[in-house]
Amino acid sequence: MGYTLCIIKPDAVSKGYTGKIMDDCIQAGFVIHGIRKVQLTEDQAKSFYKVHEHKPFFRPLIEFMTSGPSVALVLEKEDAVDAFRDIIGKTDAREAEEGSIRHKYGEDNRRNAVHGSDSPENAKKEIAFFFANIDLI
Ligand code: PPS
Repeated sequence: MGYTLCIIKPDAVSKGYTGKIMDDCIQAGFVIHGIRKVQLTEDQAKSFYKVHEHKPFFRPLIEFMTSGPSVALVLEKEDAVDAFRDIIGKTDAREAEEGSIRHKYGEDNRRNAVHGSDSPENAKKEIAFFFANIDLI
């Protein structure tokens, strides 16, 4: 089995979509092994998204991710990283496939409802960013 990290982003949390998104994950066959509501600090957001620090959207991304609480989830399923990226849809919610999580709950490429890890290696690092082993079932 594989694991991935999902972040339900501040736009979706503030609109009350946390429960719906968790239910979509469960309906798609994911098992939730960890859940944590967090208010990212600027330093934490910069560290998590360090790979994008030279991109033009870095500043708006950090402002958005620190604008309110997020909910981090550890999800388990076979090929979890790819399986989760399949159900969330394209990064830009305006281009995300109908029925995908970003299509249902997102707005654009910044307010896109969720983050999903892009590789099993990054999933491992991202899970360790939010969770200690003792927090995981
Ligand atoms: S890239 O350059 O292809 O790697 O970038 P991409 O995968 O499209 O996006 C990486 C993350 O940056 C967010 N993003 C933005 N945030 C704010 N403003 C703008 N304009 C913007 N464009 C992209 C995007 O939602 C991705 O966040 P995560 O959390 O990784 O989904």
